[in-house]
Amino acid sequence: MLSLQEKWRELDRLNNAVLAINFYNFETLSSILKAAKRKQLPVIIQATRKTIQYLGLDVTLGLAKSARKQYEVDAWLHLDHATDLDLIRQCIKGGFDSVMIDASEQPYRENIETTEKVVEMAKPHRVNVEAELGYVAKMGQSREKIRFTQPDEAKIFVEQTGVDALAVAIGSAHGFYDKEPRLDLELLGQIHDATPAALVLHGGSGIPPRQLKKAIKKGIRKINVATEIKNKFIGSLKSELQHTDDIDLRNIFPEAIKEVQHLIEDKLDIVARENS
Ligand code: 13P
Repeated sequence: MLSLQEKWRELDRLNNAVLAINFYNFETLSSILKAAKRKQLPVIIQATRKTIQYLGLDVTLGLAKSARKQYEVDAWLHLDHATDLDLIRQCIKGGFDSVMIDASEQPYRENIETTEKVVEMAKPHRVNVEAELGYVAKMGQSREKIRFTQPDEAKIFVEQTGVDALAVAIGSAHGFYDKEPRLDLELLGQIHDATPAALVLHGGSGIPPRQLKKAIKKGIRKINVATEIKNKFIGSLKSELQHTDDIDLRNIFPEAIKEVQHLIEDKLDIVARENS
């Protein structure tokens, strides 16, 4: 498997992106890997601090590594939205392929300083580092919180920190949208021209495929999707449980796994060009 840094270079040549999907348990992880296998496409599997607390770090690592081997899929393990340097250090040491330091709520200078520390930690292990500049509203926060990424700041930020990937604020937000979001593709193009970092789009749930395709053309290399996964999994379980008294969870979960797999297969079609 290529390193993620090598993958960014390949994606730059192809002008394409990789999907990064959050997993929460074995079931959602297997949905992601089955979809990637079916489509013969690589994928990034993401865990947040909450998922690591839920599963335990050793289980998160062991599960991700053994599952990607079992399904024979190129799948980079990424720590999503970390603010805690200790957790980042543990993940790097444990064998994550990639980490995100999210210091986007800190002022610009402090964001640079915090990010520099993580790059220093990650470099000897050749672990990919993603940071966020500007602000992508978190789940449940008002869209007013979005602070758009400025191209000149992005240029300096990437030069100074040496990050491999940069999450940009161009109009997306975490969680579902009340109305169709409008990505600022012109701004995205300017950020792409200003910096060599792989640009990351957070808040991928609910953005129509045609907008995602345009964003890839303008330089997005990683698209994050989480909310739609949770929503589909729980929605499927709820309806399944209404029609059965079966208590064998091995009979109950497969339908939800399959529905999430199909959702991800559709998302993978967005990047399914010559990207395998
Ligand atoms: P959504 O939950 O809106 O899909 O965003 C996912 C994300 O950006 C994870 O970092």
